[in-house]
Amino acid sequence: MINEKELAQLSYDEAPKMVTSVPGPKSQKVLEDSFEYESMARGAGRYPMVYAEGKGATAKDPDGNVYIDMTAGVAVNSVGRCNPRVIKAMQDQMSTLMHAGDMSNVKRTELAQKVSSVMPSGLRENCITYFGQSGSAAVETAIKFVRKITGRSQIVAFHGAYHGIWLGGNSLTTGDQYRKGFGPFMPGVIHIPYPYCYRCCFGLEYPSCDLQCAKYVDYVLNTPYTGADDVGAVIIEAQQGESGYVPTPPGYLAIVKKACEKHGALYISDEVQAGAGRTGKMWCIEHYDVEPDMITWGKGMGSDVAMAGLTMRKDLAAQIDDYSQPNTWAANAMTCAAAMANIDILTENDGALIKRCAEVGEEISQQLREGAKDTELIGEVRGKGLMIGVEMVEDKESRTPLNGDKMGQILGAYLNKGVVVFPCGRYGNVIRFMPSLIITREHATKAIDIFLDVVKSI
Ligand SMILES: Cc1ncc(COP(=O)(O)O)c(C=O)c1O
Repeated sequence: MINEKELAQLSYDEAPKMVTSVPGPKSQKVLEDSFEYESMARGAGRYPMVYAEGKGATAKDPDGNVYIDMTAGVAVNSVGRCNPRVIKAMQDQMSTLMHAGDMSNVKRTELAQKVSSVMPSGLRENCITYFGQSGSAAVETAIKFVRKITGRSQIVAFHGAYHGIWLGGNSLTTGDQYRKGFGPFMPGVIHIPYPYCYRCCFGLEYPSCDLQCAKYVDYVLNTPYTGADDVGAVIIEAQQGESGYVPTPPGYLAIVKKACEKHGALYISDEVQAGAGRTGKMWCIEHYDVEPDMITWGKGMGSDVAMAGLTMRKDLAAQIDDYSQPNTWAANAMTCAAAMANIDILTENDGALIKRCAEVGEEISQQLREGAKDTELIGEVRGKGLMIGVEMVEDKESRTPLNGDKMGQILGAYLNKGVVVFPCGRYGNVIRFMPSLIITREHATKAIDIFLDVVKSI
């Protein structure tokens, strides 16, 4: 059982509380300096809110405005910003050992054991972890290891996929803003349709479609005329993140896994965004009863620190040569201690916080669906747990993505009322709700109430 009163103490009580418009004068100065000195190639650099302090599922800007934060640092701060138990673990570790290069340290081994214990069926207690500092590094490593293990060089990825921004992962990632002008990319990537049911590219509807798109994966892998003659792996997000918080429909992933098995390709579940409890289970793939060969993870596993990894079955890891993938900063003892505390909080009491995440997610999804009845602008509310996407449209009938001006109006008004969200989606028209798992019910429902008021005012 979760003690709701204790959870409430992790965040600012009074949120939102706005004292200036956004950005206020102090924030404006920070933004101007940032534009002067930092590359705006980074994500969300021009977002007008500036973080000065973070507490749980709330945050404060330099002008003293207090926000409900529905971003959790893009699905990262799973147990809340500056969680006291994570801080304590880091402080204890800081005065003992932080950097040990890529040599053994006590904390990284403890973390590798912990990661193994929380893996889904098929990998749990039967896996080996390679540590990195970002989701991109985890994916990059997966690409190399797949080649070495299978002796094959092709990888199947999906339209709308986001697997990171280094050249290997970027080759798997779609989206013009990440690709145009940066090519040529890694050869051997085959992109095929993702089951984005709201905008099915085959014009079909689930379930009467009989999952033709999943059968297409099987067709691509098993037909000698598709060019997929050397496929080492299929990499997929069980719920796509950056391209719109789109969950795969029931039954889809099982067909993909079967096709992989038939064709000798590895199945990689990219859980960087959807993992670490965010969807109401430790791993998103656990909603689908499919056993992956490898998992790439990151974001929410570190909560406030950069921690990521590739976890693969033991028999696969055994085929990777020693010393073939060194990484100076991997598994710094302090970040391992933080990740350990984070995973402990997520999984203790039989995963009570993750179960609560499923409940709170369902409650606010319901609230959104109810609210959507009174507006033409909300086309679909979807997602699992606290990984909720709201697809904004011009009207429900046409499903035309809401234009950028109206999206900007909604986001600006919402921020000025004290709630932080980031959009995503192939057309930039999906508002995602991905707060820390420790968000209070009061803050979560308040954030949605304000959102619905804002949308109805446009
Ligand atoms: C599914 C997925 N894979 C990989 C990445 C890359 O992670 P990072 O930004 O930590 O490099 C992301 C980031 O959003 C992601 O959502």
